Amino acid sequence: MSSKSFVEIIDIHKSYGKLVVLEGVNFDVRKGEFIVILGPSGEGKTTLLNIIAGVIRPDKGKVIIDGQVVDDSSNIYIPPERRDVGYVFQNYALYPHMTAFDNIAFPLKMKKLPRDEIEQRVEKIAKLLKIDHVLHHKPSQLSGGQQQRVAVARAIVKEPKLLLMDEPFSNIDPALRASVRLELRLLLKSLGITSIMATHDQEEAMTLADRLLILRRGKPIQIGSPMEVYEKPSDKFVAEFVGGMNILELKSEYSSLLREYRVEGEDVSVKFMGFRPESVIISNEGLEAEVLDAEYKGDKWTIIAQIRSGEIIRFYNKDPVNTKSTVYIKPTKIYLFSSEGKTVKILTINK
Ligand SMILES: Nc1ncnc2c1ncn2[C@@H]1O[C@H](COP(=O)(O)OP(=O)(O)O)[C@@H](O)[C@H]1O
Ligand SMILES: [Mg+2]
Repeated sequence: MSSKSFVEIIDIHKSYGKLVVLEGVNFDVRKGEFIVILGPSGEGKTTLLNIIAGVIRPDKGKVIIDGQVVDDSSNIYIPPERRDVGYVFQNYALYPHMTAFDNIAFPLKMKKLPRDEIEQRVEKIAKLLKIDHVLHHKPSQLSGGQQQRVAVARAIVKEPKLLLMDEPFSNIDPALRASVRLELRLLLKSLGITSIMATHDQEEAMTLADRLLILRRGKPIQIGSPMEVYEKPSDKFVAEFVGGMNILELKSEYSSLLREYRVEGEDVSVKFMGFRPESVIISNEGLEAEVLDAEYKGDKWTIIAQIRSGEIIRFYNKDPVNTKSTVYIKPTKIYLFSSEGKTVKILTINK
């Protein structure tokens, strides 16, 4: 165990019948850290959060929170209410017949705190989350954003050691998401709450996470800061999923282009080549592509083009490019992947 880890997830396995959902999940979380579990839907994110919360049990593995083994998939099992963990469920799971105040007060009532203290703590957290004016409303009378704040308030009012959140922004109007996201991040940082959040949204994950854990086929395929994951994706899947890399199957027609990156022809392990939209420059040589469309992005244009082999690529350009025109493009940075999709080389050339 590293001395700094606050939560340790050790070799977690979980199957439902023949369906293997988690297969050897290992990671740790430092105190005060914000970890985002990122993966397409159905990859086991909710299952993993439920195991950390104690709502379900793993078939194998261990969960340690603040030095205490809370589940060892055998004799040791500390139930959710004794784990000191706050949980914001995907659909918020607010009690519909209770007011916002009573929803938030619920965990404190369970702890049998005195009435005065409950009132003080609910009001304090409600002010912080800017829902103090709707405390007498029932969930159905609240907007999506307000419901989310009530759910967050209920999860953190008892000042848990650890906060779990399952896709907490999915019911929020996209126009409001960025500001709600920022406020939540600043709040959790100011309170010093250690958090683990699950999402399938890579942009959301990138903006919130101290570190990302990318879950794929039941395993974490990469753990790292958003910048590490973006700059050095561990494989083709991560490269495409985070930040949308163009990926092409390597063909002999690229050999003149690749020579500029000093890739030798005998490198047989390389099967795919990738490059990010922002690394492309239009040149008078390089990959030949026919422009299909140009999308205006304010500060730039996204050019969608088709290369000779038929594959569609995207890249950014300061100016639009006429559709049907032919361009030659050169990425300043390329990623090479093995036939299994592993990143084997990252190469750059000068502009
Ligand atoms: N109680 C259950 N019984 C059977 N299959 C389940 C159960 N819970 C989840 N699953 C399956 O496990 C897989 C992972 O689910 P989940 O953890 O909800 O993924 P995610 O949150 O990443 O979308 C899915 O295929 C889902 O259908
Ligand atoms: Mg889920």
